[in-house]
Amino acid sequence: MRILLLGATGMVGSRIAVEALRRGHDVTAVSRSGRSPDSVHDTEPEAVLASVAADVTDREAVAQLAEGHDAVVSALAPPRDGSEPTQPFLAAYRSVIEGVREAGVGRLVVVGGAGSLEAAPGRELVDTPGFPTAYKPEARAHRDLLVLCRSVVDLDWTYISPAAEIAPGERTGRFRVGGDRLLTDTEGNSRISAEDYAVALVDELEQDAHPRTRICVAY
Ligand SMILES: NC(=O)c1ccc[n+]([C@@H]2O[C@H](COP(=O)([O-])OP(=O)(O)OC[C@H]3O[C@@H](n4cnc5c(N)ncnc54)[C@H](OP(=O)(O)O)[C@@H]3O)[C@@H](O)[C@H]2O)c1
Repeated sequence: MRILLLGATGMVGSRIAVEALRRGHDVTAVSRSGRSPDSVHDTEPEAVLASVAADVTDREAVAQLAEGHDAVVSALAPPRDGSEPTQPFLAAYRSVIEGVREAGVGRLVVVGGAGSLEAAPGRELVDTPGFPTAYKPEARAHRDLLVLCRSVVDLDWTYISPAAEIAPGERTGRFRVGGDRLLTDTEGNSRISAEDYAVALVDELEQDAHPRTRICVAY
């Protein structure tokens, strides 16, 4: 498979790059810096990595880059400089969606947020009392991105929410995949390593099991 990976140098994106390459998928890695994702040495010899500098707010650039790829994966993050993140995040994603459409690529997999998962009946995680204030703007930006994705009917998108906590860790290959409800372990924690999240995302790319749906991944 040929994958265009937006946000490939990030905490999550770089692990998706490693996972895709180790399974033999070619990856075009996009970020504004154009750096190669970290830790890509552990890859299948036949898989090709190309690193490209581009800004996804440039729709034409997205369209040109996406051409000839089988799928686009986006691991973009909202601005984290303290400014209001929702509008720029949605503008970037509108550009991505239009660019993907223009290129004729049918598949878009989005690295999502956990805040919009249902933590209690009728209550999203971001609206629960213990949700960290510092993460609320990013969680709300993601909630609106999910609404945007759900309005797209001509692409096979999948929005994959991680657990409430996602951080670099171990690749175990053992996790659960759910839907709109927050998954927690027996101790009430909602966790996933970025490596296992990447396994789940590449599984989804290979199996196309959840088109036009939000899923979540957690231990
Ligand atoms: N539990 C949760 O809900 C949870 C926790 C963590 C993360 N997340 C989500 O997971 C996603 C990835 O997070 P992360 O921590 O991996 O982010 P990150 O480390 O900040 O990586 C973001 C990536 O996007 C690239 N990028 C940003 N703006 C761009 C643009 N305009 N054009 C091209 N590339 C751009 C960055 O590279 P350049 O800066 O070089 O462009 C970088 O490669 C985010 O959407 C985040 O909200 C969710």
